[in-house]
Amino acid sequence: MIVEVGMRDGGRQGLSLGPRAIAPTPDRKGSQARDLHAAVAGLRGEVRCNASLRDLTSFRIGGPADVLCFPADVEDLGRLVGQAKAAKVPIFVLGGTNLLVRDRGIRGLVVSLTKLTAIRDEPDSVIYAEGGVGMPTLMKHAITRSLTGLEWAAGIPGTLGGSVVMNAGTRLGEMRQVLKAVRLVDLKGKVRDVPTSAIRFSYRRAKLPRGIVAGAWLQLRPGNREQIETVVKDYLHHRRDTQPLAQPSAGCVFKNPPNDAAGRVIEAAGMKGARVGDAQVSEKHANFVVNLGQAKAADVITLIKQVGRAVHEQTGITLELELKIVGQP
Ligand code: EPU
Repeated sequence: MIVEVGMRDGGRQGLSLGPRAIAPTPDRKGSQARDLHAAVAGLRGEVRCNASLRDLTSFRIGGPADVLCFPADVEDLGRLVGQAKAAKVPIFVLGGTNLLVRDRGIRGLVVSLTKLTAIRDEPDSVIYAEGGVGMPTLMKHAITRSLTGLEWAAGIPGTLGGSVVMNAGTRLGEMRQVLKAVRLVDLKGKVRDVPTSAIRFSYRRAKLPRGIVAGAWLQLRPGNREQIETVVKDYLHHRRDTQPLAQPSAGCVFKNPPNDAAGRVIEAAGMKGARVGDAQVSEKHANFVVNLGQAKAADVITLIKQVGRAVHEQTGITLELELKIVGQP
């Protein structure tokens, strides 16, 4: 899952540095390197150059980031965003699930929030958690406090930040039902708390003021621990039975079309098991593409185009991507 800062193209075009970014002159290269350096100066977290993103994605696919940073905390993230803005360097925030990073990687700065993992209990069954907390961890936390309301998230592998941005959900519910407020680092690097009344939700999308989700408050309710655990366990079993969770993938590729299921129509179009290179439409659930080992992003893109075409030709339905494709085309 991904949040884009300083970009209007939804991240699908990679970083919009203009045509010269594709074949930079030595001078241009030098100034880009200086801008990136200025953006990460003094960061307390970790900074890696020309860093592979492959192992940070659930798909195990993707080229390198010019610079990959792991801010130490929310304050460090604010500093990074402020400096990146001053240096005119765009930022990608990488959650790593629901995401396909192209083979040429992402130019500029990629930020991972994996160090932002604090969780705090607040009065009245509210939990505050930072954006890098994994949904499974958050779920376990809620269970140990006997708090109900998050069961729908059983099996969602992404981070809280990513789940907020895409209004993650399943048949049992979605993020908007529990979200109380969001802590954003805005485009200037300032921390701002935003109530849910300022957020517009739709299917798999939350339209927030621009910025990075640094944390969120979730309104849960006191519940019965055993009951919560039973719902979660049953749902996890259902997912294990119906989804290829043991293979690298990015989750569901397409949104469900109105009143139907993408998996059903893809199977009906005869595309289950279709393969391009090491990318395959899962035999277990046709709305998943799995990486059989060495799949390239280009293989996945070719395959999902084939799937979209077959479904359209045979059913007239135009499937919409749920998966985000990012990086240098
Ligand atoms: N189906 C098929 N063939 C398949 C797969 C599914 O015919 O290959 C049929 C099933 O038999 C069922 C229907 O399609 O009748 C729906 O399938 P399922 O119950 O598996 O749910 P889904 O709509 O495909 C949704 C979410 C999943 C989430 C599951 C949890 C979307 C696009 N998908 O899947 O989310 O895990 O419910 O039950 O909202 C994701 O967001 O990455 C994701 C995988």
